Amino acid sequence: MTCPILDFADTLVPALGAHGVDPDRLDGDLATRFAQAHEQVQARRDAGEMGFFQLPLDHATADTVQSLADGFGQWFENLVVLGIGGSGLGAITLREGLLGQSWNERSDEDRSYFPRLYVLDNPDPETARGLLSRLDLRRTLVNVVSKSGTTAETMALYLVIRGMLAEVIDTDNLHGHFIFTTDPERGVLRALAEEEGVPTLAIPPNVGGRFSVLTPVGLFPAAITGVPVRELLDGAAHALRRCESPRLRENPAGMLATLLHLFDTEMGRPIHVLMPYADRLRALTLWFQQLWAESLGKIRGEGHVGPTPLPAVGATDQHAQVQLFMEGPHDKVVVFVASEASDDLPIPSVHPRIPELSYLSGASLGRLLEAERRATREALRRRGRPSLTLEVGPVTPASLGGILMLLEIATVYAGALYGVDPLDQPGVELGKVLTYGLMGREGFEVPQLPDPDPRWRV
Ligand code: PA5
Repeated sequence: MTCPILDFADTLVPALGAHGVDPDRLDGDLATRFAQAHEQVQARRDAGEMGFFQLPLDHATADTVQSLADGFGQWFENLVVLGIGGSGLGAITLREGLLGQSWNERSDEDRSYFPRLYVLDNPDPETARGLLSRLDLRRTLVNVVSKSGTTAETMALYLVIRGMLAEVIDTDNLHGHFIFTTDPERGVLRALAEEEGVPTLAIPPNVGGRFSVLTPVGLFPAAITGVPVRELLDGAAHALRRCESPRLRENPAGMLATLLHLFDTEMGRPIHVLMPYADRLRALTLWFQQLWAESLGKIRGEGHVGPTPLPAVGATDQHAQVQLFMEGPHDKVVVFVASEASDDLPIPSVHPRIPELSYLSGASLGRLLEAERRATREALRRRGRPSLTLEVGPVTPASLGGILMLLEIATVYAGALYGVDPLDQPGVELGKVLTYGLMGREGFEVPQLPDPDPRWRV
């Protein structure tokens, strides 16, 4: 199974009573609403605007990425990815999902001599110095990922690391420590690469940052750390096939988008929680948060629309946020992700005479997590709190490819349902322009920002 199965029973009246959706609507107005959204997405797809739909079938790019990664051999001990937003979160999601959270702490043998993988997104000087001062930069490859090639955070980190590398490596060899992933034709990185002979990988012009995880943005860091990238694409291709139908009942991405949109716009539930029960899917919740928020939070006509994505992880959040989900305002829908631990850990029988502990003996940590997920779902249902469950099986390259693709497709369907363009992000421009002004970039001068007003400080 590589495309998740979507179980939406706990959004419907039979399970949820007055808080649920009438199932007849799935064959009535909701089916029509989705068919219209599907048609709009299809039209943009046909016009070549939604390039991410093509990525699962782009084996040529995957092969190029793989051979570039193979070409580096296992000489580099570290890969540092510089990229933010859609240019950083994909690599983090793949690393944690497929290599596990402890990848960078493992020994060389344990990693089969594949490099450690670090992603610097925030230009926080303490993080950057903390990492870079600890790495042997002579054995470090830097993948600068920026579609525009102008993002201040990424370019500042590039300049910093380039300065540090120049102190330990001959100028003639510097270019061999970089690989740029950027627009195929435009931007500063492209021009620099051509001037200095830095190898490059292209992000297709019709694929935006947050939809780019299956381009070289995510594929290169995955390939160089030994992930079989063709399997990722195969899983995504399977999800693509399962999410093509204009019929709501047959389309898991369509059903997810339609129900979440409905709960937000008609049932007062604008907060959408993504809650896997696996640490390796923790980063997925952040990736999804960016995808859902930046794609759907928009001005529409005279008004403003957009759900609020909220990351959570089971069972940790059962001791943090679940109290709020159970008894707080009726403003949330939880999307559980049910995965199977591939490497389960049995719980031994250590204290057979202590009933508070003995019930755990003979079970396993994976079984406990699974029981907790099922119990939380049922507890929410009994309180009239809707949830959906994405069943993904074991987390493998193929199944993770399937989840990523399904969520991307759901996002563009949701964009059509909300009546917004899920591919743009005009709201982030003003902050960028003001930052350029404050940093003294020519052509971006801004009037002085107001000084803090002492009356409103305490
Ligand atoms: O999803 C998006 O488009 C953004 O989050 C971008 O990925 C982010 O702003 C980084 O942009 P760039 O790749 O141009 O550096």
